[in-house]
Amino acid sequence: MKVLVTGGAGYIGSHACLELLRAGHEVVGFDNLSNSSEKAISRVRELSGKPLRFERLDLLDKQGLGRLMKEGFDAVMHFAGLKAVGESVEKPDLYRRNNVEGSANLLAAMKAADCRNLVFSSSCTVYGAVQKNPVTESHPRAAVNPYGETKLAVEDMCFELARVEKGWRIALLRYFNPVGADASGCIGEDPKGMPNNLMPFVMQTAVGRRDKVRVWGNDYPTPDGTGVRDYIHVTDLALGHLAALGRLDRFDGALAVNLGAGRGYSVLEVIRAASKAAGKDIPYEIRPRRPGDAAAIWADPSFAKKSIGWGATRGLDEMCADHCRWQTQNPEGFAS
Ligand code: NAD
Ligand code: WQD
Repeated sequence: MKVLVTGGAGYIGSHACLELLRAGHEVVGFDNLSNSSEKAISRVRELSGKPLRFERLDLLDKQGLGRLMKEGFDAVMHFAGLKAVGESVEKPDLYRRNNVEGSANLLAAMKAADCRNLVFSSSCTVYGAVQKNPVTESHPRAAVNPYGETKLAVEDMCFELARVEKGWRIALLRYFNPVGADASGCIGEDPKGMPNNLMPFVMQTAVGRRDKVRVWGNDYPTPDGTGVRDYIHVTDLALGHLAALGRLDRFDGALAVNLGAGRGYSVLEVIRAASKAAGKDIPYEIRPRRPGDAAAIWADPSFAKKSIGWGATRGLDEMCADHCRWQTQNPEGFAS
């Protein structure tokens, strides 16, 4: 298939480009590089040994988007978007414009080019305050921050489009907590500034970029009191996109699918597994709870098995080993 990947230079997009190329697809990627480096693209070319065309393009550039789509694609994987929850609270309009308007532009360009096959990066954030674990796709949706609102809005846009117009086949993949890196250690997550997410913070501590991990609360109603999440290896996640792509022809309209491993790990379990991978104790201290955090959330991944024939295969030790290899080989990320 000829696949267009938006946000192709980003963390998950670059891993998806790599797995698409490894599986023999033709890939064109674009990104405005607002949160990524073009080095990720050259590393994907090296790792795959295949050509990968890349353009610096913004979702808000309707003309550029229209021109690119008109080249003809079998499907689009749409990763491009802003994803920092804290920043979205400070700049809700930026998030709405970039993520919602940007996605609307993409859908319009797809329609004009007669391409109606889409795999979209949604998120477990659409479940809001979780009422019951494991979370199934029928759990009520709610936004708890402006970032979450943008995911709900794009999901709704897709559901509505598929309802009123025949021919759309859309997989709304709701990721849980992506971590890890390609096993080569050549591409990986490279957050700008202080990481918000646990795994990059833990691994930057392992390589000496941070003093210690701050554990946000140990008084949650969980086995060890720290927050529990469903971590999923980014390669499993990328393969989930390929699985969805391969099953799109059986879709009729838009369908939401959880991509999670189906089990939760606590913050302390992650720090322990990361310490094992790093071969040293990673220092941490207990701090007060982070406002807005849930105690525990993990996926029911059974619908992914049924609908797209996919399930995660990589466990926490492999996630930590691969993330650690990336961070050790590239202590300053792509600027190393
Ligand atoms: P990322 O920031 O590494 O990748 C997103 C990419 O999109 C970046 O390279 C950025 O430069 C690009 N981009 C942003 N706005 C753009 C625009 N207007 N035009 C063109 N490019 C633009 O983030 P990621 O972790 O790879 O996330 C990919 C997608 O998955 C996002 O939509 C995110 O919301 C979603 N998601 C991520 C997580 C996670 O924890 N990483 C969880 C659930 C969902
Ligand atoms: C995981 C656990 C923290 C950092 C976020 C987004 C969500 C989705 C996934 C995109 C929690 C604890 C964290 C630290 C810590 N992204 N923690 N010290 O909060 O589950 O979800 O990423 O769609 O929308 O909100 O992920 O990695 O930030 O936190 O103790 O320095 O680690 O309290 O229990 P989260 P996270």
